[in-house]
Amino acid sequence: MKKQLSVILLLAAAVLLYLAPAYSQEDMTQLLDPAFTTHQRPAAVFNHDGHNEKAEIEDCSVCHHVYEGERKVMDDSSEGTPCSECHAVDAEEGTPLRMAYHRMCTDCHTAKGKGPVTCGECHVDK
Ligand code: HEC
Ligand code: HEC
Ligand code: HEC
Ligand code: HEC
Repeated sequence: MKKQLSVILLLAAAVLLYLAPAYSQEDMTQLLDPAFTTHQRPAAVFNHDGHNEKAEIEDCSVCHHVYEGERKVMDDSSEGTPCSECHAVDAEEGTPLRMAYHRMCTDCHTAKGKGPVTCGECHVDK
């Protein structure tokens, strides 16, 4: 009996571990990237799954992209890898982290004519 119970507990723990990453993006409601050691602005509003549903973005690689040199690889994606791993805060080459967020988020909103484009609409004081 005892042995069976511990097997069940182990299985349950394994399932929880497996599901854990899926929960974190579902529960995400804001962005406050820890790679910025100090924050000048409040967290940016971003309800990960709700946003992507409303904006009708089905392809994860629209944001979680992969590059080969200067070229975006169309059928690969990098979800699970933080933006900061490829876009350092103080990067001297390529797109530094703050610019990476602003370009990705604001450029699409501007292009679509939908979604926030002013500082205070994204960095909302609580
Ligand atoms: C509109 C842009 C956008 C789209 C589309 C998008 N994501 Fe994300 N996602 C983000 C941002 C921004 C983060 C936070 C990145 C960071 O912390 O470096 C993130 C984080 C994540 C994380 C990490 C969660 C955590 O808390 O560690 C996972 C997993 C993830 N996304 C999965 C997905 C999957 C799967 C899809 C496609 C179904 C997807 N994303 C589509 C923007 C997007
Ligand atoms: C696996 C590495 C990698 C990850 C993860 C990654 N990027 Fe990139 N990204 C690149 C490379 C390489 C380039 C091209 C060189 C450059 O501009 O830095 C690029 C280019 C960009 C550009 C400029 C070109 C464009 O598409 O407009 C933006 C903006 C950008 N990334 C934002 C982000 C954001 C925001 C995240 C997190 C959601 C992210 N990136 C995650 C590697 C990555
Ligand atoms: C590829 C296009 C695209 C990208 C990239 C994108 N957005 Fe959006 N976003 C939209 C669209 C379209 C809407 C309007 C959705 C609607 O209400 O119809 C929107 C709406 C929003 C809203 C309004 C409230 C909500 O959740 O619906 C917020 C906040 C927002 N975006 C934040 C962000 C942030 C932060 C990022 C960068 C991490 C980002 N967006 C990246 C297309 C995009
Ligand atoms: C579309 C949404 C959006 C808009 C508009 C926007 N930001 Fe951001 N900003 C972000 C996201 C997402 C991040 C990365 C997450 C974070 O705040 O750590 C960020 C990061 C930052 C950072 C680096 C982190 C910090 O708090 O020090 C600064 C500074 C900043 N933004 C200032 C501004 C200013 C100033 C404006 C207006 C000119 C602005 N942002 C407009 C979404 C936005």
